[in-house]
Amino acid sequence: MITNVDTLFPWEFPNRQDRFHFFPEVDSTMEIARELAHDGCPAFTVVTADRQTKGRGRLRRTWLSDLGGLYFTLVLRSKIPPALSFRINFAAAVVLARLLQREFNLPAKVKWPNDILVNGKKICGMLSEMEVEAEALVFVNIGIGININNDPSSQEPQATSLQKELGRKVLRKQILAGFLDDFENRLEQPATLVTIIDEWKAENATIGRPVRIVTGDRQFAGTAMDVDETGALILELADGRRQQILYGDCFHQAT
Ligand code: BTN
Repeated sequence: MITNVDTLFPWEFPNRQDRFHFFPEVDSTMEIARELAHDGCPAFTVVTADRQTKGRGRLRRTWLSDLGGLYFTLVLRSKIPPALSFRINFAAAVVLARLLQREFNLPAKVKWPNDILVNGKKICGMLSEMEVEAEALVFVNIGIGININNDPSSQEPQATSLQKELGRKVLRKQILAGFLDDFENRLEQPATLVTIIDEWKAENATIGRPVRIVTGDRQFAGTAMDVDETGALILELADGRRQQILYGDCFHQAT
């Protein structure tokens, strides 16, 4: 039974209580999840916190983690080759975007490499960390931050939140429980990792758009043409050449 008190205590998630860690405040759920993963915690262990003092974003940025948002890291253990682990990230983004579409009727889209946008603004970011030993994955930790009843837009004008989009508060635990169930279910289906790139493309807002990419000290501008089998973005540059982008920041430009 879901009550309208929005706490993330383990007993709110009865099917996962023994693999669920809640903290009122942490530096980053990524750090705690990494320690738990090293100590041998089971697959699908969840670490969540009401707020983070050192929330981490991609490419060494800070992730604003005020009260009201949902911040969690999921420890996954998979036998897939490390080079395919990006497909797990794509699956997480697709599952969450579909949940936002289905539960809230929102036009949620995935943005390369791993954001979720609503009406062109960022509502969710994902970060993954993995450890590989003898060419096999020991763990893949996926950290997800969703702006729910918080509002980071004064510091991040390109961000939005569920409360802003819907004009009402939303239960964080409802989203977390729904996401964990859907995602676990998808990962149990072996076909998921085969079909996920096409599924991601069907939900994406990047392909077909003019974009600017910043990768370290290099910049590229062009049209996003595709995402290939390695998860890289394929850009068509102004001179018609194609450029494969393996990582970086992607800025959608006005069409
Ligand atoms: C990004 O878009 O830059 C990725 C943001 C990832 C944020 C989440 S919040 C939970 C987990 N803990 C962190 O410190 N970061 C991730």
